[in-house]
This record gives sequence, C-alpha cells and structure tokens, in this order.
Amino acid sequence: MNKREKFASRLGFILVSAGCAIGLGNVWRFPYITGAYGGAAFVLMYLVFLLIFGLPIVVVELAVGRASRKSAAQSFDVLEPAGTKWHLHKYACMAGNYLLMMFYTTIAGWMVQYFVKMVTGSLDELDAEGVGAAFGEMTSNGGSMALYMVITVVLCFTVCGAGLQNGVEKITKAMMVCLLVLMVILAVHSCMLPSGMEGIKFYLAPDFSKLSGEKFFEAMYAAMGQSFFTLSIGIGSIAIFGSYIGKERSLTGEAICITALDTFVAILSGLIIFPACASFGVQPDAGPSLIFVTLPNVFNAMPFGRLWGALFFLFMIFAAFSTVIAVFENIVSFATDLLNCSRQRASWTNMLLIIVLSLPCVLGFTAWSSFSIPHIGGIMDLEDFIVSDNLLPLGSMVYLLFCTCKYGWGWKNFTDEADTGTGMKFPKWARLYMTWLLPLLVLFIFIRGYIARFFA
Ligand code: ALA
Repeated sequence: MNKREKFASRLGFILVSAGCAIGLGNVWRFPYITGAYGGAAFVLMYLVFLLIFGLPIVVVELAVGRASRKSAAQSFDVLEPAGTKWHLHKYACMAGNYLLMMFYTTIAGWMVQYFVKMVTGSLDELDAEGVGAAFGEMTSNGGSMALYMVITVVLCFTVCGAGLQNGVEKITKAMMVCLLVLMVILAVHSCMLPSGMEGIKFYLAPDFSKLSGEKFFEAMYAAMGQSFFTLSIGIGSIAIFGSYIGKERSLTGEAICITALDTFVAILSGLIIFPACASFGVQPDAGPSLIFVTLPNVFNAMPFGRLWGALFFLFMIFAAFSTVIAVFENIVSFATDLLNCSRQRASWTNMLLIIVLSLPCVLGFTAWSSFSIPHIGGIMDLEDFIVSDNLLPLGSMVYLLFCTCKYGWGWKNFTDEADTGTGMKFPKWARLYMTWLLPLLVLFIFIRGYIARFFA
C-alpha cells in the first residue's frame, strides 16, 4: 500500500487548508451576493453562520480526514461501524468536488483573462460603460473563455502532479502570503477613495429593512449557502488535509485559524469592492459581473492603475488557484485511494476529464445560453445551485450526523480525535448543540430557503 504523504510544516497545512477555503467564494461570490442582499445585514447573518455552522463542521471534517488518513472516497469506509451505509456519502462528495470545478475553472479563467487585459492595457481609456461592455464581450466569446479555462486546469493539475509538498504546499503557501499582503494594501487604498465612505456604510452598517418578508428567508438561505461554500465543507474538500497531518496539534485551534483567515479575506474583499462601487457609481447588486465592472474603473482612475489592476487580478488568480489546486488534490486523491494508481497518472487523466466537464459552463454563456431553469438560471447557476445550496449544506449534515450519532462514528471517537494533540479542545457542552440544534437549524433554513426561492 502507498505510504500517505504528509505536509512539510504546520504552516503549510494551515495555509493550504485556508487556501482551499479562500477562493472565488471570498473575492467574487461574497461581494456580489452581499450586494444583491442589501449589504451589511447580510454580512452579519453570514458571520453568524460561519461561527455556528461553518467552524464546527471544519473540525468534524478534519477529524474524519485525520482519523481515516483517506480522502472522502474512502474515509467513511474506514471509520463507519460494520454494516452501515455512511460510505455512500462518498458519491455525493466526489460528485460535489467535480461539479464545483465544472464552473469554478471557467470563472478562474475570467480572472486570468482580466489579468492579461490589465497587463496589456486593453481596458485603459475605457469609461464605466466601456468597462461594462468589455465584460459582456468576454462572456460572449466562447473560444477565449474555453482557452483560459484550459490554461487554469492545466496549470493547477501540473502543481498537483508535482506532489503534495513540492507542488501543492510550496505553491499555495507562496500564493497565500502574497494574497494577504496585496489585499491589505488594496483595501486601504479603496477605503480612501472619494465617496468610499458610502460604500463602507452599505457594507458595514446593517439595515434590516432591506430584508423584509420573504427576502429575509431568501437572504438567510443564501448566507448559509455562502458560509458552507466559502469553507468548502460538506464534500470532504477540507477533510483531506486532515489526512496529511500528524497528531501533534488538536483540531479545534487549527479550524479556528483556517476559518479566521478565510473570513479575513472575505471581509477585506468587501472593503476593496464596495467603496469602489460607491466611488464610481456602480450598483452593488450587479450580480456575478460585479468585480469585473467595478474594479477596472478604479484602476483606470488611479496613478499606476495598470500596475495595481494587474496586481489585483493576480491576487484573484492566487485565490482562485489555491482552491482549484486544493480541490484537484481531492480529485487526484479519489483516484489514488480508490484505484491505487500513481499521482501523475491520476493528474493527467483528471486534467482531461475536468476540461471536458467544464465545457458546458462555457457553452452556457454562448451556444447554450438559451438554457435556463426558472428560479435557478443558466448552466453555471444550476451547477452552483446544486453544489452550494444543496450538496454542501446537506453533505455537511451527513458529516455532522456521522460524528454525533451512535450509529455512525460517534461523539466519543470524534472528540477523541479532535482533541488529540496540544492546543484547544472541542467544547464538551457543544454535544447537545451539534446533535440537535445545528442540524435542525440547517434543515429549517434549507426548507424555508427552498420555499422562498421556488414558491414565494
Ligand atoms: N471555498 C472555495 C471558495 O470560497 C470554494 O472559493
């Protein structure tokens, strides 16, 4: 049997796991959803959900990964009591990781494309309308979208193919450090823009009157989906990194570091984007195009704007790639765990598979743009809906039940694993909360969200 690889350092583990969490969810999805749901009130809900839902489930996933020393493709088989069917969740986990990448790689490709536009100066001289039109042109050009998607997939699988320590850990660590520094600089700059204060108010001063009636439940559902999305929990994406660490540190503290880093980046992206929206008259509810129609205006109006713009999209690429590499690591590991094949072979085969599977998302903007499902939207929206609003919250519940239910792995095994090592222990009082309240709350928001979305 292959010996399981290990991270070279604790910092590597924290940054790679945070890199899996930090991604387009923080820098692209979070700002546009926040904009769509009226700003600060939504942010508040999101933060509460991160704390009460996200954080405990990160601990749960890390514990399952570390105890089984397997990816989600086999962790349940290793830990479940004989005769039970928890292992069936592996199919949802595997589907979730693939589905996530089926739209994520296209958006990551947009970031690469915008980086190139910034470096070559093709957005210079455009006014706000021109910048908006440039986004429309990009999404109607299937050839270039596919090209940049392929570049993304090839680069990220190349990193995975190079190994856990030499590829994934080394590259992600460097990207994460650059990302954090760059974001702080850009946020400070953005907050000092003329009229930036209005954007900060929209973002940080809650006004619940914007979320009245059914909109409140819809926002709650979206905030819950975002909190699961941003941490990539429910489909085993984080669990795998537990399988690459030793028992020196207990897991609660590690989960807090990962969640805190993720939240820090999300909050900073809002501080970059909303003051810029206010300053350049872009509506914050512009949807998925938000950062692409907002930020280039900022860069066009500032000294050395091209340089800043290139740096901004470079950090977007770092954020996106850190997640893509982490999820590809899961996908590669499914193959190595299940088929016992080599890392290189698993990387090459999956590279081709992901390219093919990502094409429908690209086509959804072009040849298949007439495809639309009521209350959901086009192909990208559908893939996002299946993953973020269904597989992640429901998958998280499976992980949770597995660790709290006596017919699963059980509370004792879970807390023993989570508490092994030095550092913070998992609170004992949380048992009742994790067993009953947390799943019921998630279920309630899930059902209310469906009603608000489809029947209201
Ligand atoms: N957690 C990943 C992100 O936020 C999926 O982009």
